[in-house]
Amino acid sequence: MKYNFITAQEAAATICNGDTVGIGGFSSVGTPKVVPAALAAYATQLHQEGKEFKIGLITGGAAGSQVDSALTLAHAVSFRTPFQSNKEMRNAINQGEVNYFDAHLSMIGQDIKYGFLGKINVAIIEASDITEKGEIILSTSVGISPTLVEMAEKIIIELNETHHGKLTGMHDLYIPKNPPYRRAIPIYHVNDRAGKTSLKVNASKVIGIVKTCGKDSIVSFTPTEETTQRIGHNVAAFLLNEWKRGAIPTEFLPLQSGVGNIANAVLGALGEDRKLPSLTMYTEVIQNAVIDLMMEGRIRFATGSSLTISDDHLDTLYNYIDAFKNKIILRPQEITNHPETIRRLGIIAINTALEADIFGNVNSTHVLGSKIMNGIGGSADFSRNAYLSIFTTPSTAKNGFISSIVPQVSHIDSTEHDVKILVTEQGIADLRGKSPLQRAECIINNCAHPDYKELLWDYVKLTAGKAHTPLSLQNAFKMHLYFAETGDMRNTHFQ
Ligand code: COA
Repeated sequence: MKYNFITAQEAAATICNGDTVGIGGFSSVGTPKVVPAALAAYATQLHQEGKEFKIGLITGGAAGSQVDSALTLAHAVSFRTPFQSNKEMRNAINQGEVNYFDAHLSMIGQDIKYGFLGKINVAIIEASDITEKGEIILSTSVGISPTLVEMAEKIIIELNETHHGKLTGMHDLYIPKNPPYRRAIPIYHVNDRAGKTSLKVNASKVIGIVKTCGKDSIVSFTPTEETTQRIGHNVAAFLLNEWKRGAIPTEFLPLQSGVGNIANAVLGALGEDRKLPSLTMYTEVIQNAVIDLMMEGRIRFATGSSLTISDDHLDTLYNYIDAFKNKIILRPQEITNHPETIRRLGIIAINTALEADIFGNVNSTHVLGSKIMNGIGGSADFSRNAYLSIFTTPSTAKNGFISSIVPQVSHIDSTEHDVKILVTEQGIADLRGKSPLQRAECIINNCAHPDYKELLWDYVKLTAGKAHTPLSLQNAFKMHLYFAETGDMRNTHFQ
């Protein structure tokens, strides 16, 4: 072994107040575990001594409780980017304690390489193995780890013995050069390989290796219920129809499926629909449903940036690891989410909205326009560049007191120009080739909950026929305002 073994405490003590720390991992898996915990304890100790200690925190995507909860509860984070899905971090951001900026996940590694985010002082990366040459075999995710390792001044490696010998060969680590030297990304099929399986490291930057055997900890999915099942069936019915009429090629096209409960359930429904051919995936996050569908032969191949799967699914994967290595490739998020590959491969993108408006604009990130939920993630990387971009949402939230279809979204992540299909448990709105008024009619008729249809029609009638887009500035956010004031959007009155 080329590097020294050190303790998590020794590693943490090399990090200084004001450092920007890049932590590897993606979608809450493959993140380092013991060094972030030791860093949180170190910060608490320094605070008790009356010393300042905060770091800027850059990750690939969600870093999970092992990173975000630990560091937030220790009040050790000054800024955070690009995506989090953690209660403590979310609260700290919404209370103004942590400066957060959201970013497209395809771009964060590139932003670091372009120097837009300043120096990365320290990178902390989880490895499943270290090769004889001192190269890193990453673990259950790739994210931006290749970029962090290249750009950081110092590197701490957590060697996770849980994965020892299991994941070698599953990664494909290709990072485009900076302009003007960038070339085409040589991926023409979901299973093409463009890079290396291990990550070269500048040994002089490595502070040391910390051993761990901590497990990834992902938030468990809520069981599929009727609403999510109906959404899934609607998406499957829509895609089947498109395929039958020849708008999707006979061999079908690779799917991208978003994060969260609904995305997991929708994918399950798609896979179970035996009228559709078996599927391939070019996606960001490989969730439980992908492993289940691979076991049933319904998914032939999947490429993503992380294996965000529960312990029982990881056990299944490891029990059949040789077979799965022929069916899964883990890539940097810069490649899974790259506009070039998404357009070339013709991805069918399915993402989840918090709310959508009657014109097809989608809010994926901000409750009532101001409180961050998770972040935009890769949803707009995919929706802007997909062959077909589908957004799903239950037609209501919070026991029906909120309509997910509103006159105007309170924050825009994916615009009406990128959202082609909207699906709720009520039905499917195909927005292609429709004017704003036609889109409004289609979305209200097909996707809105019956409790809200009349209200939404009242809104449209205020200005329909008077302008290209039936938008009333005085009334656009009335449904949100009435919810904030009375707790029920159904109380809304337009003027
Ligand atoms: N207004 C207020 N709250 C709403 C809401 C609305 N219009 N719609 C949903 N919510 C609430 C739900 O009630 C739920 O609250 P709870 O946690 O208190 O129960 C919460 O938002 C999450 O909703 P849920 O229905 O469980 O959705 P989900 O787990 O499928 O997640 C997103 C939905 C939008 C938060 C999630 O998909 C996301 O973060 N998307 C952005 C990133 C992304 O798309 N990445 C994929 C790219 S590859």
